[in-house]
Amino acid sequence: MHGMAAPSGFVNLMPEPVRAVLVTSELEPSRLWPREEAAVADATMGRQAEYRTTRECARVALQDLGLPPVEIPTGEHREPIWPDGVVGSLTHCADLRAAAVARESDFRALGIDVEPARALPPGVLDVIATDDDRTMVRELSDMDPTVPWGRVLFCAKEAIFKAWFPLTRVWIGYTSCSVRIHPETGTFTARFDSSPPAAGNLVSGQDLVGKWREGGGFVFTAVHVPWR
Ligand SMILES: CC(C)(COP(=O)(O)OP(=O)(O)OC[C@H]1O[C@@H](n2cnc3c(N)ncnc32)[C@H](O)[C@@H]1OP(=O)(O)O)[C@@H](O)C(=O)NCCC(=O)NCCS
Repeated sequence: MHGMAAPSGFVNLMPEPVRAVLVTSELEPSRLWPREEAAVADATMGRQAEYRTTRECARVALQDLGLPPVEIPTGEHREPIWPDGVVGSLTHCADLRAAAVARESDFRALGIDVEPARALPPGVLDVIATDDDRTMVRELSDMDPTVPWGRVLFCAKEAIFKAWFPLTRVWIGYTSCSVRIHPETGTFTARFDSSPPAAGNLVSGQDLVGKWREGGGFVFTAVHVPWR
């Protein structure tokens, strides 16, 4: 990783009770947490550092909420396991690591994602986009070709998934939901094409509203799910 000016990142993408911490170089953990170390024991040094740094970000954010530092292990579906009363989300890509946390009394779930602000590799849009998504990406690209809209769509879907999964424990595929990106407001909304499998009424497309930004060579997306 190389040093770089911290982009504005997740600032203003989530309401104030959410604390987000973003770094552009690895953090040295003040101590090693056994279950975190076990999760990446066989991983490369790079992956270990990324995993630790992202969780250090989360601990800084927890401290900012007035909460003690804790271990944040990984669940069986790769999801981070938060302490009781806390919701959160983690993301990393090339040069960035970030965490967002909030008290569960303020929000039901959070999801964040960061991606390089580059066009998606060939073929990826076909895998991740519904017909409606594809039409939207085409229209937005005609309107403003400087923004990698397919990447914004992907980034939004990742944040939606990360907020969705802890609420429902149900896996959803990329084409289970369509996303409408609103360029004027920097927001996006999710819409499920059919009733999402086994989700009951735990969460609906209306709950999955997010904000996005492109800046510093990255796309940032953030979803917070309110308590109605
Ligand atoms: C899991 C997934 C969301 C990870 O996203 P990514 O862009 O590849 O990688 P990121 O660095 O941004 O995020 C990885 C982090 O996501 C978090 N994550 C992984 N699985 C998760 C889950 N099931 N629920 C919540 N968070 C999860 C983890 O914290 C992980 O980091 P860690 O392993 O260091 O703890 C993605 O790879 C995936 O599998 N998506 C398929 C399902 C999907 O997105 N459907 C779209 C529905 S609209």
